[in-house]
Amino acid sequence: MTFPKEFLWGGAVAANQCEGAYNEDGKGLSIQDVMPHGIKTPHTDMPTEDNMKLIGIDFYHRYPEDIKLLAQMGFKTFRTSIAWSRIFPQGDDLEPNEKGLEFYDRLFDECHKYGIEPLVTLSHYETPLNLAKKYDGWVNRELIAFYERYVRTVFARYKDKVKYWLTFNEINSVLHEPFMSGGIDTPKDQLSKQDLYQAIHHELVASALATKIGHEMMPNAKIGCMVLSMPTYPLTPNPDDVIAVMKADHLNYFFGDVHVRGAYPGYMKRYFKENHIELKMEKEDEQILQNTVDFISFSYYMSVCETADATKKIKGEGNLMGGIANPYLPASDWGWQIDPQGIRYVLNMFWDRWQKPLFIVENGLGAVDELVDDGQGGKTVKDDYRISYLNDHLVQVGEAIEDGVSVMGYTTWGCIDLVSASTAELKKRYGFIYVDREDDGTGTLARYKKKSFGWYKEIIASNGDGL
Ligand code: BG6
Repeated sequence: MTFPKEFLWGGAVAANQCEGAYNEDGKGLSIQDVMPHGIKTPHTDMPTEDNMKLIGIDFYHRYPEDIKLLAQMGFKTFRTSIAWSRIFPQGDDLEPNEKGLEFYDRLFDECHKYGIEPLVTLSHYETPLNLAKKYDGWVNRELIAFYERYVRTVFARYKDKVKYWLTFNEINSVLHEPFMSGGIDTPKDQLSKQDLYQAIHHELVASALATKIGHEMMPNAKIGCMVLSMPTYPLTPNPDDVIAVMKADHLNYFFGDVHVRGAYPGYMKRYFKENHIELKMEKEDEQILQNTVDFISFSYYMSVCETADATKKIKGEGNLMGGIANPYLPASDWGWQIDPQGIRYVLNMFWDRWQKPLFIVENGLGAVDELVDDGQGGKTVKDDYRISYLNDHLVQVGEAIEDGVSVMGYTTWGCIDLVSASTAELKKRYGFIYVDREDDGTGTLARYKKKSFGWYKEIIASNGDGL
């Protein structure tokens, strides 16, 4: 396998899924602090003790130990997010919280100590709760100004420490999870399409604005968007199914199209017309949208099928989008279908569509791990299933590179065990590093290297030759 010399190998986390310290050093509440069961149950009004994210894996206090472990694997990059509510506790505050800013100074310095380049998501499912309650999240145009204040603050503070920025995590997931993704408090079943697409418009404008400001303030920075990728295959060769796939792709990937082309594509204008959606646009919006991204980043976990046949539209398990199950593919314990070739397919599709560098910023297997004796007096996890998942996917990334696709890097999801987004449990583990914490709150929080730790180290050291 030939990976580019500068390939950015690494791993990814999000602040809300690992930091914990949910109310320390002036941090305000975020929507995650009231989502004790992820998207499985409605959110609560206040944080409750059963919410695993309140402590997370205590990364807020243990990050030096964790970054050291990532460095031992040879990480070139580490993707994390800044918790917006650490910097602007209520979201609409006029002044930032200095203590919050200091934490990320320390974290990014720690990464640089080992030559690890931070890759930072500005908003990863952790909108300040106040913005959800008081403004209904991104439905309200005022969020653009609050987000602008926040990004200006962190760009000014970290411009010499962070080169790679992502504006919104899985921006297209707002279609499926308006509260988690867009801080929209109106229940999903009461949210009109008009309001949903208006919220999306506000996010797209905010994202383009962040790109514009980022380029002005940090000429050497690279700013990317981040989409949830979901290769969608026709359930049958019936042309009706193929058109159903095309329409599903349009709704899913118009987010990327706007970020890359700087304008709404024709098919969305048709969709808006047919669905009686009239976007309220300010006169500067069209111009702001023209600030296009430097690269496209995406998550990839699974593929799905689509059909026009209403009797076969049975939604299977899966990530935030889910979809119709593919009879040819196995699935994880959580029902996410495993499709290594899907990553090659999606890389080629995005490259053909956008002709901009691509960055895989999430991929991995959520599984139940068993901590066992390592035979040398310590403990480990023999996670051969994770190694083979990652190996199979990376082989396909290599194929895509051979196909001529420009790939900047690859960060596995949850490189250290963390709290899951969809189910808010720790039982579903992704990491190379095991964290001793159970869903009942027990555990020492000690870290243990899994078998995959040594495997990934070798892959990075050989720049992919060991695959
Ligand atoms: C992505 C999110 O959707 O998938 C992550 O960006 C999330 O935040 C990851 O953790 C895996 O999903 P889950 O539900 O298994 O944590």
